[in-house]
Amino acid sequence: MSSGRALPELIADAQASEERFLRQIFVRDQMAEWSKRPLIMARAEGVHYWDASGKRYLDALSGIYVVSVGHGNRRVLAAIRRQLETLAFSPPMHGTNPVAVRLANVLAELAPGDLSAVKFQCGGSEVTEAAVKFARQYHKLTGSPGRYKVVSRYLSWHGSTLGSLSASGLKSRKTVNEPLAPGFLHVFPPTCYRCPFGKVYKDCGITCATLVGDVVEMEDPATVAAVIVEPIGHTGGVIDPPPEYLPILREVCDRHGVLLIFDEIITGVGRTGSLFAAETFGVVPDLLCVGKGLGGGYAPLSAMIARKPLADAFWGPAGENPGFVEGHTFEGNPVSCAAGLAVLEEVLERDLCGNARVQGARLRAGLERLAEKHPVIGDVRGKGLFQGIELVRDRRTKERFPPSAALGVKVGRRALEHGVLCRFDPDWIAFGPPLVATAEHIDEILAVLERSLVEALEEASGRGGV
Ligand SMILES: Cc1ncc(COP(=O)(O)O)c(C=O)c1O
Repeated sequence: MSSGRALPELIADAQASEERFLRQIFVRDQMAEWSKRPLIMARAEGVHYWDASGKRYLDALSGIYVVSVGHGNRRVLAAIRRQLETLAFSPPMHGTNPVAVRLANVLAELAPGDLSAVKFQCGGSEVTEAAVKFARQYHKLTGSPGRYKVVSRYLSWHGSTLGSLSASGLKSRKTVNEPLAPGFLHVFPPTCYRCPFGKVYKDCGITCATLVGDVVEMEDPATVAAVIVEPIGHTGGVIDPPPEYLPILREVCDRHGVLLIFDEIITGVGRTGSLFAAETFGVVPDLLCVGKGLGGGYAPLSAMIARKPLADAFWGPAGENPGFVEGHTFEGNPVSCAAGLAVLEEVLERDLCGNARVQGARLRAGLERLAEKHPVIGDVRGKGLFQGIELVRDRRTKERFPPSAALGVKVGRRALEHGVLCRFDPDWIAFGPPLVATAEHIDEILAVLERSLVEALEEASGRGGV
């Protein structure tokens, strides 16, 4: 559409009247719905956002689990400024740059076990997909070219690109894009609160984990390349596995020569109270993917970290071994890597993992107190500063509200009205404030949650119940 108007005039007009231009941008929601009350953030500092009208929000979600060290972090800003003036881009086809090498070395040092070979990308989808490609190519390079299948979980989210979407298990985001890539199998996740096998932890034998071994067996291990899981699932309502779950997956993968991939796009960089959830659960995967909180929202950055013995398979004479065949234009961008280094310095020097444990425990205790008072909170789960609640109509039977009630959405919208940003879904609400959050911030989040919950329930009962 060409209006024939000069660009400066167009920009000035757009700034003066953002609302008129809302049809020109796709957001994640249904645009017609969103445009009724558009959320347009204009500024941020610390743990707060201000929208275009000047209203302040406590960011109880780190944007979307991204702003690990808070908004406007001086150390990160200074590092980025320095890097912009030194080298803003380097040619990825022919090499890399000093900051990318430094960050790779730091990650190799910090990651658990022998996870030590790093591939940088910009976003989570790119690195989870890179991990799948790594697994397939690894097996080709090491004499098992028939291994290509990937086992992942229903309700999971590994990203929007076609490969990462194929690994994902959310029908609401998949169906519209089907058919997806072949070779992806899905198993049930460890939703203990609603065990898909009708069992009760601990008498369940951790069926959800042992069955992964059976699936690999039934598929023929010689065809299976990898198992990919989020240590704590997000979509599906903060799916926090029992302690035995990931160790069993590790054993299953070892037994069958299958690579274990942890998607730590959300859980990485301190969120669960350790630098990586792999440490929180005491399991070293073969490939670990980090994103979101690594760049901290200051620049797009993600990393796939591979165990050294596996990465070694990609090292060899060029005539026989092409190296890891995977690349994007902006991988290892120096500005992004400078942001990543500064974020890691902040997390380590200020012991933000420790703060995530302390404030996470406060958030958890507060959510459990709310659950005692409000029976619609059926379950509380998560680790560190990654916590969620599941909403139920009947706590005894765990019956959900009918879809039309969408209580979680109502509570989340009320929380936004009261100035708290959280993640909400019809049946669950999740919180992931920046790792710099204080006790006062946590208490405010809890107070606004309770107020929003009570109001949403009152509104629903005024309308004849939910
Ligand atoms: C667990 C997980 N993996 C992967 C992704 C994809 O990351 P991105 O949106 O940066 O591509 C997300 C994004 O929300 C995620 O939560």
